[in-house]
Amino acid sequence: MFKSFISKKNSPIIIGALFFISYLFLVYIYYFNTNKYAIEEGHKRVDQILFQHRAIHSYVENMQKPVIYKLKYDGKLYNEFFQPEVLSSTFIARNMHNFFIEEMKKQNLEPYSYKLASNNPRNPINKANELEAELIKKANEQSFKHFDKILDENGKKYLYTAIPINSNQQSCLKCHGDPKDAPKEMIDRYGTDSGYFEKVGEIRAIISLKVPLDELLSNSMKIFYILSSVTAIVFLSIYLIIYIIIIMQRRLEKEKEEYQYNLLLQQSKSAAMGQMIGNIAHQWKQPLNAMSLMIMNVEDMFSENELDKESMDNFVKNSISQIKYMSTTIDDFRNFFKPNKEKIDFDAIESVNNALKILNPSIKANQIQVNVKSDNQFILHGLINELTQVFIILINNSKDAFILNDIKDRTIFIDINGSNKQIIVQDNGGGIPKEHINKIFQEYFTTKGKEGTGIGLNIAKMILQSEYSANISFDNIENGVRFTIKF
Ligand code: HEC
Repeated sequence: MFKSFISKKNSPIIIGALFFISYLFLVYIYYFNTNKYAIEEGHKRVDQILFQHRAIHSYVENMQKPVIYKLKYDGKLYNEFFQPEVLSSTFIARNMHNFFIEEMKKQNLEPYSYKLASNNPRNPINKANELEAELIKKANEQSFKHFDKILDENGKKYLYTAIPINSNQQSCLKCHGDPKDAPKEMIDRYGTDSGYFEKVGEIRAIISLKVPLDELLSNSMKIFYILSSVTAIVFLSIYLIIYIIIIMQRRLEKEKEEYQYNLLLQQSKSAAMGQMIGNIAHQWKQPLNAMSLMIMNVEDMFSENELDKESMDNFVKNSISQIKYMSTTIDDFRNFFKPNKEKIDFDAIESVNNALKILNPSIKANQIQVNVKSDNQFILHGLINELTQVFIILINNSKDAFILNDIKDRTIFIDINGSNKQIIVQDNGGGIPKEHINKIFQEYFTTKGKEGTGIGLNIAKMILQSEYSANISFDNIENGVRFTIKF
């Protein structure tokens, strides 16, 4: 299956397309995952900030405040004392974040931003913006634990996270309820305008965190580019290797085909040669007989002393003509078997005539009538002997059919049509039996038992295809078969 696939003309394109599609698919996966990775890293940063934030709250609530309350209880600190620097965990946390951010800026790191956003803030710094106000509303309506969103502000990307704080308890109202109940020192510092009249159970603020994503995203893009280009290089190299293998495999296949073709051609020629040696012997029988008669004649005349100049001249003339005849027949055969690899321009009829000359004795012996029709010149370019071989094969097949089917009126009709660029070879030998119709051009298919080589029509088809880019087909006609060679 692989072999037949790679011999297809466009298999490199198909493989290339498959590689390209897989590459695009991988690139998409890389992009998706590196992006996801960057955002996950952003979430990790948010978590780190929140852990620290909670730690500060816990420290103030669990360690710092009890000490101050004890001081008050012991009377070492006056009861009215209120300084947010030591007693407000929200104040302490905000300032801790601010110091943290300053440290980051010193290191040229892009800082995050922290805010405890409220619609009714004690400290105006904490006033909620539009998004925050909406989220506070939402937190009170349907209570969510965590909200995040990627924000795009002036071309910069941020991972925004909002977390609602715990809802108000009774204890909160001491400072966030009626200003009458609030510590005096706190009112002195913050006034009574805002941050009061809160209700128990309501959520009065959200933690609003904004972590910059640009650096993380650009790092992940770098990883993305590296992965994509490494994959591209790997894919291209693999493709190149496959491509080279395909080309080499094809070349090998072609060489194998050529080798097989030459081998078959050789086999077919040797088969023809064997047949033709018989033909030569047959063709020489008559002149040889004639000459031996003449020689005996001369000898008789000589012994009778009747050998005059005239009869001697006659003898020489006749002998030379017989020898000439024999020599032309041998020349015809020699020309056909000459290993000629030179391509020439020739008229198709020459090739037909050569075939007829070579087959002449067997055509005559089998009483076959050959009619050749040629409308006008039909010039072909190639190895003439190989085309001759095609006609020899076709005529020999017809001859075999005549004998096999015991046909009386044996005719072969050859029509050379230069204007249509086709040659027809037709006989009345009985046609090709139905069961053989699909097989006659196959390699080693023969109907002739032990005597057949099964390379005749197969090699004829191969010669026509490879030497002349021509196609041969056949039809069973009335009484016979018609082969059509289309150039
Ligand atoms: C002893 C007084 C006091 C108590 C008790 C108190 N707060 Fe506050 N709270 C403050 C002060 C003062 C600020 C302003 C600090 C600053 O400048 O950031 C504040 C700020 C806040 C803020 C930031 C938003 C804003 O209004 O500026 C939130 C949220 C908050 N408090 C929630 C609570 C909750 C919830 C409780 C109860 C668990 C509580 N507070 C108890 C004094 C108090």
